[in-house]
Amino acid sequence: MELISRMMDGSIPYDTEGRLGPVSSGPGAKQEDRIERLKEVPLFEGCSRRQLRSVARIARVFDVPAESLLTRAGEAGDEFFLILDGTARVEVSPEKRVTLHPGAFFGEMSLLDGGPRSATVVADTPVRLLVIGRKHFADLLDQVPGLTLTLLTTLSRRVRQAEAQAERARAAAGL
Ligand code: CMP
Repeated sequence: MELISRMMDGSIPYDTEGRLGPVSSGPGAKQEDRIERLKEVPLFEGCSRRQLRSVARIARVFDVPAESLLTRAGEAGDEFFLILDGTARVEVSPEKRVTLHPGAFFGEMSLLDGGPRSATVVADTPVRLLVIGRKHFADLLDQVPGLTLTLLTTLSRRVRQAEAQAERARAAAGL
């Protein structure tokens, strides 16, 4: 099971120094602080305060160290991730890596079609992640204006890249 899933369901303890713990999303965190943080995320810029409040209720924020495995190709996945700080690399194929920067998201494919993770994603640096679990993903789509369209656009780009990559691999193999 993925690292974040295990932290979310409590089957591994959070780092005692808080490095792996949920950040600003525990019971003590002030709702207003969480909303202020979400306001800075470009994906949520069209959201009303009420919508941001709903997102703050369903999202959790995690800090993970560099080199953490965030998704593993071929495994089941139950979370959608948005990078708040740091960078992560998507290992699309042995030859192709894509770097994701703050504001980018990943993990949407398995939530949309229920299939296994299409790629391995690893933290390149310490990363702060906003994480939404499967059961709240539909709520997220309801609350964030334009998110469905953004997801579709990003998915189209990723499919094109995957096809181009497969074509290059076929050509290199002389097929
Ligand atoms: P998912 O399949 O759930 O888990 C792995 C994630 O990697 C996938 O969702 C996408 O979010 C992301 N991903 C897959 N292919 C690419 C790509 N070519 N470029 C960027 N991200 C990708």
